[in-house]
Amino acid sequence: MKVLVVGNGGREHALAWKLLQSTQIEQVVCVPGNGGTASMARCQNLPLAVDDFEGISSYALENGISLVVVGPEVPLAKGITDYLQAKGMKVFGPNRAGAQIEASKAWAKSLMLEAGIPTAKAAVFTEAAAAKSYVQAQGAPIVVKADGLAAGKGVTVAETVEQAENAIDTIFQGQFGSAGEFVVIEECLQGQEVSVLALTDGLTIRPLLPAQDHKRVGEGDTGENTGGMGAYAPAPIATPELMARVQTDVLEKAIATLKSKGIDYRGVLYAGLMITPDGNFKVLEFNCRFGDPETQVILPLLATPLEELILACVEQRLGEMPPIAWHSGAAATVVAASGGYPGDYEKGKVITGISEAEAAGVTVFHAGTKLNNQQQIVTDGGRVLNVTGTGENFQQAIAQAYTGLKSIQFEGIYYRKDIGYRVLSAE
Ligand code: AMP
Ligand code: GLY
Repeated sequence: MKVLVVGNGGREHALAWKLLQSTQIEQVVCVPGNGGTASMARCQNLPLAVDDFEGISSYALENGISLVVVGPEVPLAKGITDYLQAKGMKVFGPNRAGAQIEASKAWAKSLMLEAGIPTAKAAVFTEAAAAKSYVQAQGAPIVVKADGLAAGKGVTVAETVEQAENAIDTIFQGQFGSAGEFVVIEECLQGQEVSVLALTDGLTIRPLLPAQDHKRVGEGDTGENTGGMGAYAPAPIATPELMARVQTDVLEKAIATLKSKGIDYRGVLYAGLMITPDGNFKVLEFNCRFGDPETQVILPLLATPLEELILACVEQRLGEMPPIAWHSGAAATVVAASGGYPGDYEKGKVITGISEAEAAGVTVFHAGTKLNNQQQIVTDGGRVLNVTGTGENFQQAIAQAYTGLKSIQFEGIYYRKDIGYRVLSAE
């Protein structure tokens, strides 16, 4: 089988890496891919934009691609699945209607209310004055969200009413384009976050191992929100008992409600949960795709061949598959970022030490990297590398990731030194 993977992050490198472990996979083509996917055997990059549906479809049809796996939300929200399916192709990822669960927070919120899924209290506004009066009445802390896709930057957890008002102005002044036509204002929840990613074919839902991301740029979960600075799996806070409740109270309700709207949702349904100190949980958001960097810790632990699961979702026979098999132990990934991220940063810095790190046992998933004209790996984004360790327990997995990181260098490298601190103190 030849598979085309859409996207260029660490998640897509991990998907390509996992697919290539199967003897069933002859080749993976990444659109556009990164320095890591360019350097793997049986893998190549195709320099097209992720929303160049015409280009992707012509290439796939002319080159015997039998499956397209879509990483990011943007092409899903723009309807890549609908487009390629209409050309007769097999595509993993929900259609445009299903992707609304991530692409509109207001839509997702009304789906949750209709389905009876536990979530934070919220109100939706179309203009600043009403949004501000609501914030003044509710008080701080409070959470302000742009409705649409904003590359992870559309959410402000405001500590003061003034911060919330500034966030409202920023959104309505057009910082996020059409993503900011609506503002969702939400009750601020306290607790620990966990990401539950489930595979679904629209009928059967099979959760993957729960993972915990580290959203804030600074140690001790301080500073600005980012796309994610590190992750680990399986997150012990998501106990089997909690996972059973997530299955019935969140995943099954969401899929049933989507179905009642005529949406045949196949792909990943990702529930971002806040586990409140009383042991209950609420859904913070749904995503319509694999998480990044969660995928970089979930896939190293997956024992069932990934392409079998993906095809079972696409062909709606997930219910016939045996239970998903996992390797024992733990995985942890630390994101090496460009200095300045999530603000401004420089690109084009030469990266050294990746093979030395790999010799220490880690798997290095590239995110913002590319090969330059001299075939050197250089930085090309804010989150640059995901250095992933595995082990019998979290202590081993995390120690391995940090040992690997010691070999890796590029000008301005920054990473959090405390990834997994919660789970280490528990362990
Ligand atoms: P979202 O894209 O909606 O998940 O928001 C991004 C991040 O903002 C989440 O991962 C949380 O860290 C934070 N967040 C979102 N909603 C809330 C909330 N209601 N209470 C507290 N933090 C939140
Ligand atoms: N790790 C957060 C996300 O993928 O949205």
